[in-house]
Amino acid sequence: MITSSMYLALDFPDWQQTEQFLITNQLNEVPVKVGMELFYREGAEVIKRLRDRGHPVFLDIKLHDIPTTIYKAMKNVAKLDVELTNVHSLGGAEMIKAAKAGLLDGGAGHQTKLLAVTILTSMTGVMLREELRIDEPLADTVVHLAELSQSNGADGVVCSPLEVELIKNQVGPKFLTVTPGIRLAKDDMNEQKRIATPAKARALGADAIVIGRSITQADQPKQAYLVAEKEWTV
Ligand code: C5P
Repeated sequence: MITSSMYLALDFPDWQQTEQFLITNQLNEVPVKVGMELFYREGAEVIKRLRDRGHPVFLDIKLHDIPTTIYKAMKNVAKLDVELTNVHSLGGAEMIKAAKAGLLDGGAGHQTKLLAVTILTSMTGVMLREELRIDEPLADTVVHLAELSQSNGADGVVCSPLEVELIKNQVGPKFLTVTPGIRLAKDDMNEQKRIATPAKARALGADAIVIGRSITQADQPKQAYLVAEKEWTV
């Protein structure tokens, strides 16, 4: 179980533009996702500001390094009071275990859930095969990485909505699936490849969704937020 379930991706260059967007569109206290763009500019302070304003936070930093470094990094992340954070499952079993241990030892208890990214939703089976020489079908790789993540202490995975059912069937219903690659029906795909609408993600059984440009680049962001929320929660 996670408390929040629709995270708005705050992919803005700095705090000023982030704050302006949230205030202009009266998106008070909505769950948000902070990714690398904003975090690398503003650092931990941005998380504090968002928490002070009542936003639940998913800190999307997709860590991938040697286990010792990941352990120490997650000990620090544990102090930030975020609901979710993540690593790349491709970092392997020891790294995933180290991430979980870091969160626990850093004092986050079970308040901060650890997700592992399976295969980015911008990637395709052809890219896996031709660029990374991973010959297994993409879906098999995703399920394998989900199992690896679960057996090494992750609370869930970041995956495409289209993979939720496979993962739940294989790894069990309690293992969280958080899905980016969400578009409102009328939108551009941008570079995302394996996408779904909020309603489809819900129907497919996702526990939470991440939605960014469909809202942040909309002509009327608040309106788009409400449409996505309604589709997701109905
Ligand atoms: O704008 P859009 O809705 O595509 O934003 C998706 C967000 O989710 C981005 O911040 C991106 O970094 C993140 N994400 C993703 N695919 C993953 C994991 C995270 O698109 N597999």
